[in-house]
Amino acid sequence: METRIVLEPAMLQNQGSAAASHIRVEGLTVAYQKPKAAGTLIAVSSANLDIARGTFVTIVGPSGCGKSSLLLAIAGLVQPAGGRVLVNGQPVSGPGRDRAVVFQDFALMPWRTVLDNVRFGLELQRWSGEDLTARARRYVELVGLKGFEHYHPHQLSGGMQQRVGIARALAVDPEILLLDEPFGSLDAQTRDEMGSELLAIWEQNKKTALFVTHGIDEAIFLADQIVVMARNPGRISEIITVDLPRPRTIETMDSELFIEYRRHIRACLMGKVEQSCTQERRF
Ligand SMILES: Nc1ncnc2c1ncn2[C@@H]1O[C@H](COP(=O)(O)OP(=O)(O)OP(=O)(O)O)[C@@H](O)[C@H]1O
Ligand SMILES: [Mg+2]
Repeated sequence: METRIVLEPAMLQNQGSAAASHIRVEGLTVAYQKPKAAGTLIAVSSANLDIARGTFVTIVGPSGCGKSSLLLAIAGLVQPAGGRVLVNGQPVSGPGRDRAVVFQDFALMPWRTVLDNVRFGLELQRWSGEDLTARARRYVELVGLKGFEHYHPHQLSGGMQQRVGIARALAVDPEILLLDEPFGSLDAQTRDEMGSELLAIWEQNKKTALFVTHGIDEAIFLADQIVVMARNPGRISEIITVDLPRPRTIETMDSELFIEYRRHIRACLMGKVEQSCTQERRF
């Protein structure tokens, strides 16, 4: 079987039309003030990215390369030092109900039960048209937490807390799901299961999803496109289109093409792939 991996240099990503992209990142630079007035730190440098509606995009890269910062800028929770983010062609100036974020550290409210944490997202957005508790309950069940509705976060495992975060994000029915290592504290098997569950949910709803992970297999398994980032300064080094058919199953991970992607991404992360890659590369 001929395997083919299409590589698109980040520089060329800017050539699509803004209207066609659901999310468009244009020359985005994110900078932070260093502690003790020691100057600024460039977390993301001149990033360009076009994400089509309904696609699943994963972001991989070493710790500190700006993955969360890129996501936060798209969420409107961090103001760019340069460039801009467009959603549906409109510049992002702050958070909006079209985008929901699942944070790296869950960000649950410890004094609220599972059900009330999910309800809270709906309350914030003044959700109408359906009973809030019934809707929250439905999403709690969807992520496999039926029976735990009245538990508080400290009574849950890390993985269960992450599921609450995912339920809260999904319940508000956003156009865009921004997920920052949502399975970070899960064991390998539960992680695979949650990945499959998330894909099933995504395939039903066809949201646009942007998903940060350290797991190379997870990044390939979920994605239509993989954004590879590098550090010093934090930047997008490659964007890889994943041609694996859907629906994907655990067996997908054993396919030849999957293994080729894995090998390639590993090489990218180790800096063994030239950054000025050709537009298309055959394996
Ligand atoms: N609020 C902040 N104030 C100052 N510096 C920050 C802030 N947030 C992030 N940084 C810095 O920006 C850089 C990128 O951080 P970011 O959290 O985006 O990386 P990451 O790729 O998500 O890392 P990880 O994989 O460890 O989560 C790091 O050097 C970090 O110290
Ligand atoms: Mg992070």
